[in-house]
Amino acid sequence: MKKETLEESLKEKEFFDDVNRDYYAEFQQEEGIPVYTGYHFNDIKAVRVKPWARMGGLGAYINLYGEELSGDNYVCEIPPGQILKPQRHMFEELVYVVSGRGATNFWTRQGGPKGIFEWQEQSLFAIPANIGYQHFNGDDTRPARLFSKTTLPALFQYFKNKEFIFDNDYVFEDLERDSYSGDAKIYKADAAHDHKISWVANFIPDVKAFDQMTSYVWRGGGGRSVDFYQPGLVRIHSHMSEFPVGRYKKGHAHPPGRSIILITGKGYSLLWQPGHEKEKKKVDWVPGSLFGVGLTNLQGECWYHQHFNTGAEPARYLVLHVNAITLRDKHVQVEYVDEEPEIRELFESELAKSGVKSNMPSECYTDPNFKWKK
Ligand SMILES: [Fe+2]
Repeated sequence: MKKETLEESLKEKEFFDDVNRDYYAEFQQEEGIPVYTGYHFNDIKAVRVKPWARMGGLGAYINLYGEELSGDNYVCEIPPGQILKPQRHMFEELVYVVSGRGATNFWTRQGGPKGIFEWQEQSLFAIPANIGYQHFNGDDTRPARLFSKTTLPALFQYFKNKEFIFDNDYVFEDLERDSYSGDAKIYKADAAHDHKISWVANFIPDVKAFDQMTSYVWRGGGGRSVDFYQPGLVRIHSHMSEFPVGRYKKGHAHPPGRSIILITGKGYSLLWQPGHEKEKKKVDWVPGSLFGVGLTNLQGECWYHQHFNTGAEPARYLVLHVNAITLRDKHVQVEYVDEEPEIRELFESELAKSGVKSNMPSECYTDPNFKWKK
């Protein structure tokens, strides 16, 4: 076999360097704003942001462990009374309004008619793929802060091309029918679906004030839940859950790509890798906390997680999902009768610190057929 010259060897290195490039990570660096990576952030209201030339306001990226190939998150702040630059891109977004109030213009084709909708703190709205839009801060005295989940990393993995993503004329005709009125279609509020409804709308005015959640018995703890679907989005959707004072939900695992944001309450969650039950990570949360559910490897070692309410009011959280393409959205869970006793012990000791009594029925630990009230 011919001996490789130095020049040939360098070309080969260049080739494989190129094959292995992480175009999305390079793009994040080019954006010139902070890039934070982790599985837990205490308060998205306090995440430090810096001027963001592409958007026109200030921003920071938040990468949650385990979702690097599918979705990402960013925080964007609009200074008081300011307008951000118009945007159009092939990835889709789901936006949660952390603070402030404002409005967004949108259009499906350049030069075509524009729509507008107004948002406020706790609104949730969709930005469909390749729709044009422009955000305004409607308050001259306070900044507005948006938290957004996107499918941008997946697009970089597939196309590796910024022009395709940010300068693409393709119009998704079916999006022209979508609106931001706040009207919703409601599905599946029945026993066959565990009473959990699906609320289908591109715009939800206030998730904190949303009062249409229904029983979700399967996950335990006497909780209520709702699935939010946005007709303008393909890969992203969301859900919201609330569970009562003195209660906790069942431990479970499913694919990552979820950003869990606390809306009300005080408590903690435990996160652990399968096979590492003795090395649980404890994540304390209050309104504004963010955390993800990780993935140990691409063979599907999804982290378990379990949520505990130790505060004096119901705990409510919103979860923004990018649905995994390569992993089925399969859930496994640990029933109360099977869980390690230390989980209950920790909960009771944490409750004692808050001066709140456990409201977990003792039968749920002994009766595998225990029925939570609806
Ligand atoms: Fe979960």
